[in-house]
Amino acid sequence: MHLFTPFECRDVTARNRVMVSPMCQYSCENEDGLATDWHLVHLGSRASGGAGIVMTEATAVTPRGRISPQDLGIWSDAHAEALEPVTEFIASQGALSGIQLAHAGRKASTFRPSAGGDPVRGESGWTPVGPTEEPWPHDEPLATERLDSAGIDRVKRAFVDAAVRAVEAGFDVLEIHAAHGYLLHEFLSPVTNTRDDEYGGDFDGRARLLEAVVSDVRAAIPEGTPIFVRISATDWLADRRSWTVESSVRLAAKLRTLGVDLIDVSAGGIHPDQQVPDTGAHYQVPYAERVGESELPVGAVGGITTPEGADEVIRNGRADLAVVGREHLRDPYFALRAAEALDRDAPVPRQYTRGFQ
Ligand SMILES: Cc1cc2nc3c(=O)[nH]c(=O)nc-3n(C[C@H](O)[C@H](O)[C@H](O)COP(=O)(O)O)c2cc1C
Repeated sequence: MHLFTPFECRDVTARNRVMVSPMCQYSCENEDGLATDWHLVHLGSRASGGAGIVMTEATAVTPRGRISPQDLGIWSDAHAEALEPVTEFIASQGALSGIQLAHAGRKASTFRPSAGGDPVRGESGWTPVGPTEEPWPHDEPLATERLDSAGIDRVKRAFVDAAVRAVEAGFDVLEIHAAHGYLLHEFLSPVTNTRDDEYGGDFDGRARLLEAVVSDVRAAIPEGTPIFVRISATDWLADRRSWTVESSVRLAAKLRTLGVDLIDVSAGGIHPDQQVPDTGAHYQVPYAERVGESELPVGAVGGITTPEGADEVIRNGRADLAVVGREHLRDPYFALRAAEALDRDAPVPRQYTRGFQ
């Protein structure tokens, strides 16, 4: 087993084990959530660049689930249609297309990072929703709405509708975003979920929303389409009751029984007090190894920047996918470069062969 061993999952096979990590582009300049030329060129070039799976950025399942007004969305058929050229081009390059389905929860309605990231107020802003009324901490936080049971039902429905649309748009893989302090993570973590109804309380209560979303999505999409779930393996808040690696292993074992195919193992994001450890090379790989104890395939992400490093993760069975984020911003051709460095057959587009002789 190595980085260029194909990855088979349900009815699809990735040509290698490099996945482009989901990365927000905040590039829907019209604030309508519709994919633009940027998304086609950005995602398309990573497909030409040789990756096995090209995952979109967090793609909002409802308008209120956007982090910023410029987020990508999939809350209507028009959104799915705008994504079709992206999936078609990715397929034409021999890669699998994935879409990260997301709801930002209480971290919604902020300016994009390049504009400072503060809450958006007034006409272009909106009221975030969360497990409680407790807002994302900020000097002047936005009032946040606690989801009641009708609101929770709407969220479940939105994930299912988005999943069905994503399959229709041609995506090969769906990833449910339950990490980084966004809505589904907010329900999982006792730091943010202090509800006393069936969606709060103990582990089972806090996991109920994610499990329902996964089950409902699984029932609504074809058997052959894989479902990945991205989690934060730990809240990085060891000094208080919080989500831990042990919780993650337990969750993964449960998600396995619900038809999830892979856990994409990230960390953090639930609270600004988090104690982020040294974020050097492969800093989150040990979490992927632990979550892999659930016997579900796992993706490792965080600080994977070299062909040899990515290969080592797979070769030593630490993870099933090497998920590469920022290195793909620096080099869309990371996977082609990796194939060359590791002396593997490279999926070089015919137009580019002279660059790789
Ligand atoms: C610009 C940028 C945008 C990101 N957006 C998302 C996102 O939409 N969804 C997500 O799960 N993670 C997101 N992340 C986190 C990355 O997917 C990845 O987990 C993180 O950067 C660590 O991996 P790396 O060291 O390979 O970059 C983003 C990271 C960056 C740098």
